[in-house]
Amino acid sequence: MEIIIQPDSRKASLVAAKITAALVREKPHAVLGFATGQTPLEMYGILVEMHRTEGLDFGQVTAFNLDEYAGLDPAHPGSYHSYMRENLFRHINIRANRVYIPDGLAADVPACCASYEERIHAAGGIDIQVLGLGTDGHLGFNEPTSSLASRTRIKTLTGQTRRDNAALFGGVDQVPHHVITMGLGTIMACRTCLLLAFGRKKAGAVAAAVEGPLTAMVPASVLQMHPRAIFILDEEAASELTRTAYYRWVYENKPDWQKY
Ligand code: GLP
Repeated sequence: MEIIIQPDSRKASLVAAKITAALVREKPHAVLGFATGQTPLEMYGILVEMHRTEGLDFGQVTAFNLDEYAGLDPAHPGSYHSYMRENLFRHINIRANRVYIPDGLAADVPACCASYEERIHAAGGIDIQVLGLGTDGHLGFNEPTSSLASRTRIKTLTGQTRRDNAALFGGVDQVPHHVITMGLGTIMACRTCLLLAFGRKKAGAVAAAVEGPLTAMVPASVLQMHPRAIFILDEEAASELTRTAYYRWVYENKPDWQKY
């Protein structure tokens, strides 16, 4: 794992945007995996800015989203369809027919999940998967005890995650219980995992995922087994890590060819 600690979320988001933009420039047909939540908003804002001012071209990019609430209309403001449209897709030149988000209204959920996996495979696999981190260590909506080998499927949210995501629903009672999410096995198959975590409330989950044991109780700890997992943190999210001096030295002394 690579641990990058930046002074604040803006600088951290810039590193994440630069890594993503470099891939899109080098590989115009890149397959990007996107996450939702508060955390990647600044990164998406920077990508939009790069599209506007530097001509960063998403015209041939394919996008897959991590997850969606089950039973929620894509037009609902709390849906991840709405989130992606409002915060990224409508501001860049990505093509609608290359955007995939799990269908929360699917009548046949297992078939919808299987076809999502097939689509990722047919697209050549995901090059970079952007990830946030739940306060309980979840990735996507893979709650603690999720199978570390899981694939896209239906999951049930914990009370903690429903409370964390209540803002867009006008109260925790309105947050759906069920979701469709890429599995941890799906995420592990992505070529690069770019996890962003900001703020004090993520510090415990970050420390458990990076320096704790590999366990289904902390789903993000599965990234310890990933060949290219990059954690990009602000100071607060990094505050419970014990090896920060080492992580900083590594980042500041990368060989030129390895710098972002
Ligand atoms: C939800 C999403 C996750 C996201 C998490 C953290 O659970 N399904 O993908 O990482 O929220 O959200 P935030 O970034 O708002 O803290």
